[in-house]
Amino acid sequence: MDNFTDKIAVVTGGASGIGQGIARALAAAGAHIVVADIDGDAANKSAEDLRGRGVRSIALRTDVRDDASVAALFDATQNEFGGIDLLFNNAGVYLGGEMKDCTEDDWRFVLDVNLDGVFRVGQRAAAFLREQNLREAGRGGHIVNTASIGGFLSHGSGLAYAVSKYGVVAYSEAMREDLEADGIGVSTLCPGPIDTNLPASDRLRTGSEKTGGMSEALSPFIRGGMKPDDVGPIVLSGIRRNLPYIFTHDDMRDVFQARFDSVMDCIDRIGEPA
Ligand SMILES: NC(=O)c1ccc[n+]([C@@H]2O[C@H](COP(=O)([O-])OP(=O)(O)OC[C@H]3O[C@@H](n4cnc5c(N)ncnc54)[C@H](O)[C@@H]3O)[C@@H](O)[C@H]2O)c1
Repeated sequence: MDNFTDKIAVVTGGASGIGQGIARALAAAGAHIVVADIDGDAANKSAEDLRGRGVRSIALRTDVRDDASVAALFDATQNEFGGIDLLFNNAGVYLGGEMKDCTEDDWRFVLDVNLDGVFRVGQRAAAFLREQNLREAGRGGHIVNTASIGGFLSHGSGLAYAVSKYGVVAYSEAMREDLEADGIGVSTLCPGPIDTNLPASDRLRTGSEKTGGMSEALSPFIRGGMKPDDVGPIVLSGIRRNLPYIFTHDDMRDVFQARFDSVMDCIDRIGEPA
């Protein structure tokens, strides 16, 4: 897809951070946007901001953990705009802390949003776009699933987060292959440090969960990082080129190289005497 004028985009987690940066870049390129976020008030403000930029936008309070809520998102978008061209599967949360402190409640909190939520929204989006293409041949579409550089680089802290993002990379790679024949592009967004509200995402925890991890642990890594408004144009450029992976930072090459070298080294050592 290389022209965003009058395209219809759905952005989950669109009320803040990277989702908001993507939405603003879309508005600058002439697309109309559905801001889907669990924070309904912030979503309303974002949609208002987008309308002020001269495009159509609505806010829908959406919880990606809830199938009925996700179904309602697609129904409402269809009713309001008559179709969808772009889906940004972006809502996410973060918990840090040492591996030994990661409780099952921590694990569930992160995986429910970051992996199950991406699956739930992604499956519905893929089915929607496929059916739409049967009715309107050649309409195509593009899906961007937000993973992270953490989707390739696991470490002791932020265990559940890294597992969720490795999962998003795998899901997104499979989806790209599966939808290619339908003319639907899929990219995996792998941001480096972006200065967003992610270190406050444990505010979304409710009830009396057993907490070992804290979102605030992310703060030192992303404060002073790239601004979300600078991420949006990078993402749109990646879609125009139908890139499989959209990276935001090129200063992590050595870490990636070391990871893949280590994998290749172990393959080279197959059959080596013990
Ligand atoms: N900030 C970074 O450095 C960074 C780096 C790599 C990847 N990411 C990923 O980018 C995505 C966006 O995060 P961000 O950094 O912009 O953080 P953010 O907290 O600013 O934005 C995330 C948005 O997701 C929403 N959200 C959370 N749970 C939800 C749910 N159940 N249903 C619907 N919406 C929900 C939040 O309300 C918030 O508006 C996440 O998937 C995150 O993991 C962020």
